[in-house]
Amino acid sequence: MGRKEMLFNFDTCPDRSGTESTKWTKYAGRDIIPAWVADMDFASPPEVISALQRRLAHPVLGYATARRSTLDTVLGYLEQRHGWKVKPDWVVFTPALVPCLHGAIRAVGAPGDHVITTVPIYPPFLSAPVLSGSKVATVSMKMDGGRWTFDFDTLEDTAKQSRAKVFLLCNPHNPLGRVFTRTELERLADFAARHELIVCSDEIHCDLVLDPATQHVSFASLSPDVANRSISLFATSKTYNTAGLLCGYAVIPDEGLRARFRRALAGVANEVNIFGLTALEAAYRHGEPWRQECLAYLRDNLDLVMAEVSAMPGIRIAQRPEATYLAWLDVRALGVTQPLETFEAGGVGLGNGVDFGMPGFVRLNFGCPRERLREILFRIRAVAEKKSSKS
Ligand SMILES: Cc1ncc(COP(=O)(O)O)c(C=O)c1O
Repeated sequence: MGRKEMLFNFDTCPDRSGTESTKWTKYAGRDIIPAWVADMDFASPPEVISALQRRLAHPVLGYATARRSTLDTVLGYLEQRHGWKVKPDWVVFTPALVPCLHGAIRAVGAPGDHVITTVPIYPPFLSAPVLSGSKVATVSMKMDGGRWTFDFDTLEDTAKQSRAKVFLLCNPHNPLGRVFTRTELERLADFAARHELIVCSDEIHCDLVLDPATQHVSFASLSPDVANRSISLFATSKTYNTAGLLCGYAVIPDEGLRARFRRALAGVANEVNIFGLTALEAAYRHGEPWRQECLAYLRDNLDLVMAEVSAMPGIRIAQRPEATYLAWLDVRALGVTQPLETFEAGGVGLGNGVDFGMPGFVRLNFGCPRERLREILFRIRAVAEKKSSKS
């Protein structure tokens, strides 16, 4: 195929059944292939695994504080990859990013305030406000010229009608796979500034850009003013498949906001995992060859998904995802009332659109070996054909 020889093997991967895997445990003992929660079935980069083994060779596993080398690695990464020069003080290491959504909401708003976000969206964007005592105000993303984008008119109305202090942004977007352009983000920043909203920008998928024509722009890198009204969230856990190590970090330039964020997490989610820190540093320092091959593999997987789904009756993908290993399938034309259960009965476990605030859709995780993906798509097609022959 003209592609240079691969150094890493994504076609075969370890059997995860019988491990603690959340993804695989859900359907243990049933003939249902899991393609739901966002982790990939690939082994993490060998450099990450050997760094973890080296850390374990030191048999004392007490409380962890990020080493200076880890912090420097993060600063170097943000500057080189995203053109954002960050001061060491701005970085807050955390056990994963979902707690940071809660922290951001509690740091900015008061109970009873609104939190604005878009739908569909990664489910904790909808639950974190409610669990934090806030109300959630959702605005649907809209299709415009063949791409999903923000509905600024409705966002304006929503901001005017609600008592909101925070906007939760997902960039790249899960589940739509959009990599927002600088122009879109500048417009969003302008909207946020006029309504005095702090933007919490979750950029966990930013190193999983599949479309070579697009480039991730970190929201806070737009300008120092924008940065001062933002909380940015990063982790290596999606890209290098280490979500079980529970580690991420927030970047918060404004001192007062950072102090409030720390206070919101104090005693609840302020300790970090030793192995998470080790994996993060190794991934940023040594993971690039693996990441590039993983992206190439995911691109080919996505080609397969797009080709197969376009031939399925009653299912469509409105826009090819530009990033992530997730595809957002519109199954409304199948006319089934419970898509999740329908596909489970056909042997595939997908993400449920209802949880993302958008019934009638399902999310497919294509971060798996190609042969498994073929089987998943074969099963989805069988369900689609059966259902559409009835309608
Ligand atoms: C946008 C987004 N944020 C956060 C997470 C989860 O992050 P963590 O495991 O660090 O809590 C996910 C997982 O899929 C995600 O898609």
